[in-house]
Amino acid sequence: MTDAIRRHDPLVKGFASDNYAGVHPEILQALALANEGHQISYGEDVYTEALQEVFRGHFGPLAQAWPVFNGTGANVVALRAMTAPWEAVVCAESAHIHTDEGGAPERSAGLKLLTVATPDGKLTPELVDTQAWGFGDEHRAQPRVVSITQATELGTLYTPDEVRAICEHAHQLGMLVHLDGARAANAAAALGVPLRAFTTDAGVDVLSFGGTKAGLMFGEAIVVLNPDAVRGLRYLRKSAMQLASKMRFVSVQFEALLAGDLWLRNARNANAMARRLADAVREIPGVEVPRPVQANAVFAVLPAEVTQRLQKRFRFYTWNEAAGEVRWMTAFDTTEADVDAFAAAVAEEMRAQV
Ligand SMILES: Cc1ncc(COP(=O)(O)O)c(C=O)c1O
Repeated sequence: MTDAIRRHDPLVKGFASDNYAGVHPEILQALALANEGHQISYGEDVYTEALQEVFRGHFGPLAQAWPVFNGTGANVVALRAMTAPWEAVVCAESAHIHTDEGGAPERSAGLKLLTVATPDGKLTPELVDTQAWGFGDEHRAQPRVVSITQATELGTLYTPDEVRAICEHAHQLGMLVHLDGARAANAAAALGVPLRAFTTDAGVDVLSFGGTKAGLMFGEAIVVLNPDAVRGLRYLRKSAMQLASKMRFVSVQFEALLAGDLWLRNARNANAMARRLADAVREIPGVEVPRPVQANAVFAVLPAEVTQRLQKRFRFYTWNEAAGEVRWMTAFDTTEADVDAFAAAVAEEMRAQV
């Protein structure tokens, strides 16, 4: 029995973000399973120990998983551990670390971000070169890490070969590669490859692996694939306030996600719902889907009045007001009925516009 009151309508779903979704029931079960009794705090529990093997199963024998609370924390701690105070991170202009982390990489890690404009959220070796220069010049922050996002903030994907080309290039320059994998599960599901295909096997040094968007209550993991790429991670995680005292509850969620195929089932559903939504809205006269739909994001261009009316009915964000572009995200719990109802609403509001 609880004194808490349900204060929301569990039937209401939107398309704002995959983190609007709740917790997958199998994750809730795992949390209950890890409950009761005492366990050593701060990561010395049996669940965190067991998790190492689970991550090694996906990412290879050198992988070390460092559970943290959130994605911003994973990125900031990982990048801090990969750089010295005089070094810099090359990333796309659209990278979450640049656009959506409140300046945390700069503020709390003192990181210099060297950003690159991209057409589709993806870096290439040539684009990396536009910022990877000035090595040895004391006047320039020294480029040390290339950070890429998979799936990207624009809903696009790198193939394993594209990631490999970036890693080979970065390594030739003496740089390291970090991959923000808040949606790595969506990427693997969409590409039809194991998680290690575009991480370990492609040469990525350190990964921020997303749990929250994949169905966890909260929790992400820094996954070190190249132990020589980081320094002081153990201490930096604590001083960056990302060391969970009751870590067993982060770890057991990841075990539930990754020991079997829950990660894949969840990601496949989210991706399939994005494709279904894109297919439906492409049929509506006047709606443009300007970007490829490769994972669980759909971008659309709509008249501003239609967006405003739709946003009164469903939650979603305007991506680029000037271009009239909106972003619709699907989640592990988005159903065909949710998509069909939303697409019908888009059609209705477009008809009302004409
Ligand atoms: C690409 C990317 N990286 C990282 C994150 C993690 O952010 P948070 O700190 O909200 O968990 C997000 C969440 O929106 C994201 O989209």
